[in-house]
Amino acid sequence: MRIVVTRRVPEAAMVVLREAGEVWVSGEDRPLSPDELREAVRGADAVVCMLHDRVDGAVADAAGPQLKVVANVAVGYDNIDVPALAERGVTVTNTPGVLTDATADLAFGLLLAVTRRIGEGERLLRSRTPWSFHLGFMLGSGLQGKTLGIVGLGQIGQAMAHRARAFGMRIVYSGRSRAKPEVESALHAEHLSFLELLRTADVVSLHCPLTPETRHLIDAEALGVMKHSAFLINTTRGPVVDEAALADGLLRREIAGAGLDVFEKEPEVEPRLLEMDNVVVTPHLGSATVETRTEMALLAARNVAAVLAGEGAVNEVRPDGDRS
Ligand code: DGY
Repeated sequence: MRIVVTRRVPEAAMVVLREAGEVWVSGEDRPLSPDELREAVRGADAVVCMLHDRVDGAVADAAGPQLKVVANVAVGYDNIDVPALAERGVTVTNTPGVLTDATADLAFGLLLAVTRRIGEGERLLRSRTPWSFHLGFMLGSGLQGKTLGIVGLGQIGQAMAHRARAFGMRIVYSGRSRAKPEVESALHAEHLSFLELLRTADVVSLHCPLTPETRHLIDAEALGVMKHSAFLINTTRGPVVDEAALADGLLRREIAGAGLDVFEKEPEVEPRLLEMDNVVVTPHLGSATVETRTEMALLAARNVAAVLAGEGAVNEVRPDGDRS
């Protein structure tokens, strides 16, 4: 069995993959181009891919009819044309669960950084600008008693809510469906329409997947509805936010600031955002801990091994969008 890995993965995952077949790993320290990807997957029974790889019907056809599984090393799978692969009998898997806490930690870190001006303060010191303590110096916004609006109360949204509760925040949420009553009551979370959430929240944190419905969910109109004092946090996928509209809205002071880990055209970032002191940016680090990235790669490898062994995948993504 030929297993193609599009970018280096931790050794723990390699051990599992080597037991399952003959492994080829891209030697490039960068994403493969679409042509390189189609070339690399030729003859593959399994492909382990990253969120920057677009895997569609053409890639599956380039691999050949023996392709059985595409294992994305990410929970999000907007880079994969799941229906096209299902049509060709290819199983698609993702890595839910193992990155929940790491991603919520980073989202909450961005929330603290932007509301308490941590990035700005650090830049001030590093620029050797003279300063002295005074009561009005670099004041931020407190969190206690404020409202966190969570868009998408899935596993990561719930983990974010738990952190916010510990900081004394009130939780409201919106999403495709209502959370179970026990989830709502554990988080004291109130379900609101998306519009109502935008109107109410002091911080809006995005945790919905990228789908045709959520692309540019935060656009000029949505920003216009948010409070002028509100902050936006995005750790899901860049295209959920219209980045140009966000830069316009921040310049017009429609909202107070943003904490962003993901971008519309990664690795590029709308240049105006990089000039703003009230914007904190990190380079897609949500799941970036040694432990979490190892678990993600291991889970992807286990998915490959299970499918190649003729067993059901551990985490299959269904063409209708549901996860097993
Ligand atoms: C995911 O798994 O979808 C994350 O974006 C990777 O950190």
